[in-house]
Amino acid sequence: MKSETIPVITIDGPTASGKGTIAQRVAAALGWHVLDSGALYRLTALAVIRGEVDPADQAAAANLARSLDVVFDGGRIFLRSDDVTERIRDEAVGNLASRVAAYAPVREALLARQRAFRRAPGLVGDGRDMGTVIFPDAPLKIFLDADVAKRAERRHKQLKEKGFSAKLSDLLEDLRARDLRDRSRAHAPLVAAADAVIVDSSHTGIDDTVKIVLDHWSARVSG
Ligand code: C5P
Repeated sequence: MKSETIPVITIDGPTASGKGTIAQRVAAALGWHVLDSGALYRLTALAVIRGEVDPADQAAAANLARSLDVVFDGGRIFLRSDDVTERIRDEAVGNLASRVAAYAPVREALLARQRAFRRAPGLVGDGRDMGTVIFPDAPLKIFLDADVAKRAERRHKQLKEKGFSAKLSDLLEDLRARDLRDRSRAHAPLVAAADAVIVDSSHTGIDDTVKIVLDHWSARVSG
């Protein structure tokens, strides 16, 4: 099967909009693969931290991105055989990820790696630029939004459940800063593709949001 004929559903949106969970659930329902593209930026950030590289050095960060020795295995993520699944979710790693994600050489270094996830029978790609840059020919593009206070609340609850303490006001400030950086950067900013369906999940639970996406897909396939 030629790569461009393999169906892709892209799910883009701001931090903590629930994209990751929705992407996993939609992929499971369809029996498709998932690309968690944010994980690649987080892995790059972790490699910068571990390699004691100057985070402002764009070329060095791009070299790390290009040579990431990463394995995605049944929901676990390994960097050089080290299980970093939880570690890359740290707020500090997420913040650095959003900084290195603004570097054009880093984005370029991760381009082919992301497109290689397009494998039969299909792919759900979750990120910021899946529909605009990585898979512009995707037959269904979703832009998943939710208001920032709601996203901060959800992130707060998630962290508490995992036993981490975090102040809601700090999370809110962090999300605002990250949104602003993602939306205003020069390269591949966070923006809905012109042909994306906007889904606002501020007042919709996970099950209903998954259903909305699957219904859009059914309509595309049958339409
Ligand atoms: O989605 P997640 O929060 O894991 O992404 C971490 C960071 O990586 C984001 O804040 C964003 O700056 C960046 N990112 C990106 N493009 C993507 C996915 C993530 O710039 N496709």
